[in-house]
Amino acid sequence: MRRKLVAGNWKMNGDAALVAAMAELARPETVDVLICPPAPLLASAAAHYPTGAQDCHAAASGAHTGDISAPMIAATGASAVILGHSERRADHGETSAEVCAKAKAARAAGLTPIICLGETLNERDAGETLAVIGAQLAASLPDGAGPLVIAYEPVWAIGTGRVPDAAQIAEVHGFLRARLREQLGTDAETVRLLYGGSVKGGNAAEIFAIPDVDGALVGGASLTPEDFAPIIAAAAAACD
Ligand code: PGA
Repeated sequence: MRRKLVAGNWKMNGDAALVAAMAELARPETVDVLICPPAPLLASAAAHYPTGAQDCHAAASGAHTGDISAPMIAATGASAVILGHSERRADHGETSAEVCAKAKAARAAGLTPIICLGETLNERDAGETLAVIGAQLAASLPDGAGPLVIAYEPVWAIGTGRVPDAAQIAEVHGFLRARLREQLGTDAETVRLLYGGSVKGGNAAEIFAIPDVDGALVGGASLTPEDFAPIIAAAAAACD
């Protein structure tokens, strides 16, 4: 059985006080808890608990002002990197081909890529959800074996308080698992599929009970221990 993973995406939020506060979180043995703070906080956070970055460049070094490479992230002690978040796809025009190149770089540096996929509301309303997700997956997935986490994050559910119903999440996660089996064979069983978008303490148990949901990528509710702890507890309860 896959271990549940609860990942907190702080986005462009947080400070040294929040890094310290999260060190006090209960981390059950049965659940993997990952904190993804902004890059300047990675090293201090990694001294206390497992961390991931929020993006990396596809190159290991070079003339790319403002960018951060996967080996630099690994050197902070981080173990993972979020790639292709919809905010990066929207704000920075990131394509799935770029996400794929970044995922290769992440693996080469020993990091687990957490590749984000998701449809917009217009795409869902047009009945295009699985086509969009399938195309993003095909173009974003690096070739070959290696560590991999996929996060299904409907764009319309991020930061909005709107969450797809259980059947909608189950449909996409089932589809993703089937596609991964076609591409990776039995290795597909090791890939954790996270749901992300307005996950809170109040809805986490219901989400973790959905087949093929192996955890959550949490934004707003990962910004205080009080909001994050119940989500971790719900993941632990789902393992019992
Ligand atoms: P949210 O963000 O939990 O605030 O909706 C999730 C995400 O963007 O990863």
